[in-house]
Amino acid sequence: MKTLLSDAADSKAGEKGLSGEVLSIRGGRPLTGRVEVKGAKNLVTKAMVAALLGETPSVLRDVPDISDVQVVRSLLEVHGVRVVDGEEEGTLHLDPAGAVSAHFEEIDAHAGASRIPILFCGPLLHLLGEALIPDLGGCRIGDRPINFHMDALRAFGAVVDKSYEGIRITAPHGLHGADIELPYPSVGATEQVLLTAVRAKGTTELRNAAIEPEIMDLIAVLQKMGAIISYEPNRVILIEGVDSLRGYDHRAIFDRNEAASWACAALATDGDIFVGGAKQQEMLTFLNVFRKVGGDFDVREDGIRFRRGGELKPVVVETDVHPGFMTDWQQPLIVALTQAQGESVVHETVYENRLGFTEALVQMGADIVVHKQGIDAPGRRVPRRALEQAAVINGPTPLHGAEVEVPDLRGGYSYVIAALAAEGRSVVSNVGIIRRGYEKFFAKLQALGADFDVIG
Ligand code: EPU
Repeated sequence: MKTLLSDAADSKAGEKGLSGEVLSIRGGRPLTGRVEVKGAKNLVTKAMVAALLGETPSVLRDVPDISDVQVVRSLLEVHGVRVVDGEEEGTLHLDPAGAVSAHFEEIDAHAGASRIPILFCGPLLHLLGEALIPDLGGCRIGDRPINFHMDALRAFGAVVDKSYEGIRITAPHGLHGADIELPYPSVGATEQVLLTAVRAKGTTELRNAAIEPEIMDLIAVLQKMGAIISYEPNRVILIEGVDSLRGYDHRAIFDRNEAASWACAALATDGDIFVGGAKQQEMLTFLNVFRKVGGDFDVREDGIRFRRGGELKPVVVETDVHPGFMTDWQQPLIVALTQAQGESVVHETVYENRLGFTEALVQMGADIVVHKQGIDAPGRRVPRRALEQAAVINGPTPLHGAEVEVPDLRGGYSYVIAALAAEGRSVVSNVGIIRRGYEKFFAKLQALGADFDVIG
């Protein structure tokens, strides 16, 4: 595997023999400057899996150097796919010509590292007639079951055997088009259906599908490969299976989660950040909330500039599937809301444990109360889910430095910007998790004027 220390600041830490896991941060300085975002983690990793379906090599552009990409790359290589870096930075060439089955021992090294391996099922079944899937990882933000995935695969005719080693999936009678309605518009399960249906015999109708921009970009990738996919109103996707697919050449959609994270960093630290590569269309919902909180932004051809437009104001936000306010945006937003004048409420409706990170913000001086059963309130638009929670944030409260340990990707990013907004020194440990989804993280912080040292 490639080293995670991939940019100037990170290499310096490497030279000093530090793993880049612990940061000492001196806060109170606005983050100001320009950062670039590359392709979306939540598209790139799936497009890499799609390359398995092609009879010729694929080229993927704007791939960020993050550890989730490295995990998927390594898992593809274990399956005999040749993955080579192209000359243009961030380009991967993926050649599945030598694809082979892997053994449990080989894939086991990838257990717990990412959730993407579950998406290998359909492509491996088509290619090799068998898929072995390790125990899944990903952020500990809820139970994250895979029942929708397994039910969908069974609907295509797959047989699922669970053992202590992982999951073995076969398709003794091949895979055929299916009629599937998801209980919830799950991003992963929608991708599972797409990656399986494109080469299944016959037509698949998927109802209650997720329609996130990253999914639309995956559909574009599959269409380039020769797939026939159409979407209809009300979350219905129709996939007509084809006999063969070829490789693709695709530039990944930009990472709107990373763009939103830096936008919130500008708000929280009272800074001024230009996010190169950010686009308005995919961020409309975020930008509306950003403006209501008191943020100001300029949309330009090559990116979006984010800063405060005055005093920060409280908001009520409900996370939801697209086109709603993404669950991944609420964590960095909550840091900014600790500095807003009044009471904000964030209803988290997608994951049951995505507000746990607020405990560390409270340790830093924030006034946040989490309601574990959620809150019923007049005017709510997103259907109530049994698992939902709510955070009530009262501000503004000065933040002060603390010692905190990163719990998950977006929560971890939020700790770093909280520490940068706080007075005094913080020590943030376990920051390696942040590199799962944020490329050149230390170098970007440095470019924005953050005052920090890598101490471990
Ligand atoms: N769910 C089930 N059963 C399933 C699948 C999902 O009950 O088989 C439930 C989940 O427990 C959750 C809801 O459905 O309550 C939504 O989960 P979804 O499947 O949509 O999420 P995911 O595919 O596992 C992706 C992103 C997440 C992002 C969510 C929502 C990737 C690799 N991950 O997860 O990104 O928060 O969609 O948009 O694409 C992140 O980037 O930090 C991150 C966690």
